[in-house]
Amino acid sequence: MQVIHHIPALRQALAAQPQPRVLVPTMGNLHEGHLSLVRQARALGGTTVASIFVNRLQFLPHEDFDTYPRTLEADCDKLRSAGCDIVFAPSEAELYPEPQTYRVQPDPALADLLEGAFRPGFFTGVCTVVMKLFQCVQPSHAVFGQKDYQQLEVIRRMVRQFAMPIEIVAGATCRAGDGLALSSRNQYLDPAARQAAVQLSQALRSLATQVQQGARDFRSLEESAMAQLGREGWEPDYLTVRRRDTLLPPAADGLLPPLVALGAARIGGARLIDNLEF
Ligand code: PAF
Repeated sequence: MQVIHHIPALRQALAAQPQPRVLVPTMGNLHEGHLSLVRQARALGGTTVASIFVNRLQFLPHEDFDTYPRTLEADCDKLRSAGCDIVFAPSEAELYPEPQTYRVQPDPALADLLEGAFRPGFFTGVCTVVMKLFQCVQPSHAVFGQKDYQQLEVIRRMVRQFAMPIEIVAGATCRAGDGLALSSRNQYLDPAARQAAVQLSQALRSLATQVQQGARDFRSLEESAMAQLGREGWEPDYLTVRRRDTLLPPAADGLLPPLVALGAARIGGARLIDNLEF
């Protein structure tokens, strides 16, 4: 496995590697969830490339950019064992040698909802760095985890809108034994918060079950799910049932389209997100 920090060296190394070229973009601090994406990439054959870059553009000023765990050496060990061929780990000076004043502005109808409403500019930061990583790596495929459900949809639309010749592949969410979705931010949880953290996925499961059993007053279902989490010590940003295709609220009458329950909430200083298709 080659670990490459510079764009020209990356391009040179990639020229000699077989297709398909599959990129797994990450911000490092890798856990089993990331490694399952790498194994999924590996299964497509050709060349597996993982990028590791903590992207300043997608953090709000009060967020954890400075403290986000940077664990390059341990990450490379894990990627090597998962069968990755090339790690692209640029510095900020390499990826943003001048202020990144050109940005990719995703469709606000999708990107200003949910995560975008609570983290303004987040998806502009994500799309800008992903576009740039795509330019550096020129992958034929890119794998994104379904845990970041809205991110996956935003990237899919970006690729479609710009006619980028890249197939976006969704990777299933990996969960701990109790059902908590794996996330680098889980390490911010103290033992009590870690024990309670599964309540987020349970709340989503309960929302889905109520809808499957015929409940259609989505607003009141969502309000009571948020109130319940609040009583358990969480600060929920949203818990909601949405159409999978647009992430807009479904109509309460008629046949239901494919749905997804999505949630974001804080507990013990960590902000967790999760989702459940149903
Ligand atoms: O999901 C992530 O880890 C990041 O948002 C990504 C896609 C690597 C862009 O920085």
